Amino acid sequence: MNTPHPVSVLDSFHLTGARALVTGASRGIGRAVAEALAEAGADLALSARTEAALEETARAVEAHGRKAVLVPADLAQSGSAQRVADAASSALGGLDVLVHNAGVLPVTEDGTPALLPLQQLPQQAWDDVISVNVNATAALCRATHPYLTESQQASVVLMSSIAGLVGTPLMESYAASKAAQVSLARSLAAGWARQGIRVNALCPGWTRTDMTSFAYGTAAVSDWLMAHVPMGRWAEPAEVATAALFLASPASSFVTGHALVVDGGLAVPDGGLAGIPKPPSPFAA
Ligand SMILES: NC(=O)c1ccc[n+]([C@@H]2O[C@H](COP(=O)([O-])OP(=O)(O)OC[C@H]3O[C@@H](n4cnc5c(N)ncnc54)[C@H](OP(=O)(O)O)[C@@H]3O)[C@@H](O)[C@H]2O)c1
Repeated sequence: MNTPHPVSVLDSFHLTGARALVTGASRGIGRAVAEALAEAGADLALSARTEAALEETARAVEAHGRKAVLVPADLAQSGSAQRVADAASSALGGLDVLVHNAGVLPVTEDGTPALLPLQQLPQQAWDDVISVNVNATAALCRATHPYLTESQQASVVLMSSIAGLVGTPLMESYAASKAAQVSLARSLAAGWARQGIRVNALCPGWTRTDMTSFAYGTAAVSDWLMAHVPMGRWAEPAEVATAALFLASPASSFVTGHALVVDGGLAVPDGGLAGIPKPPSPFAA
C-alpha cells in the first residue's frame, strides 16, 4: 500500500516480483523502460501495435531472467485499453505498475510529423493525437484501476513531455495532450492516494527515438533544437527509463502527483543570460 520501505536505499529501487504493464514497448523510450523494469526484477506485459517489435523487447526482458507477455493492441481503438489491462493482469496474476508510454505526434497523410500551426492543422490530425495521447490514457487508467487497488505497491507513470509544461508552437495538439496527462496524473494522485495508488507524470525533453528522427536526422534542425537545451545534447531513452524506474519503484514511495522533468535543462528559464548562441530557426516562415 505504498508504505515506507523497510529496506536499504538501493534496494528501494528494486521491483522484485512486481507485475508491470508498459505500453509503447515496441521501441524507443518504452522499450528502454521495459528493460529497466526487468533489470529491477519486474515481470512485464508489453503492449504496442507491432508484434514483431514487441517480441524483440520480450527477448531483452527475458535476458534479465524475467517473464514477458505480449498484449498487442491499437490503443486508438475503443475497447482496446480494457482488453490490454485485462490480458496483462490475467497473464501476470495482477498488476502493480502501469507505465503508459504509447504516444504520437500529429502526422500528415503520408505519416510524417505535421509541424503546423494550429490554424493549419486538419481536425483529423488533432483528433488522432487526442485519441491516443489523452483518451487512451484515461481508458487505461480506468481499466487498470481495479487491479492496482489490489496491489501493495501500486504506481502509475504517465509518459508526458516537457511539451506539456511549456508553450510548444507547431505542436499545439501534442502539447495540449501532454498537458492533459500531467493534469490527469495530479487529479488521479489526489483521488487514488487513499487507495494506495501513486500516480505521476514523466516529462522528457528531446530524446533520440524514431519519433524524433525527423529532427535529429537533419543537422540544421538538430543544431537549432540543441541550442535551446542547456546541456546541449539529445537524451538517450535509457536516461528517461531510469527516471521511470524511480517513479515506478518504492524509491519514490512518498511521491505522487508529481511531473518529473528530464530535459537537460530545456525548461529552465535562463533569461538569455546563459549566452548560448542560437542559430536562426529552420522553422521560420
Ligand atoms: N522522443 C522524445 O523526444 C519524447 C519527448 C517527450 C516525450 N516523449 C513521449 O514518450 C513516449 C514514447 O515516445 P518515443 O519517442 O519512444 O516514440 P516512438 O519511438 O515513436 O514510440 C512510440 C511507441 O508508442 C506506440 N504506439 C504509437 N501509437 C500507438 C497506438 N495507436 N496504439 C498502441 N501503441 C502505439 C508505438 O508502437 P507501435 O508503432 O508498434 O504501435 C511505440 O512503441 C511518447 O508518449 C512520447 O510522446 C517522447
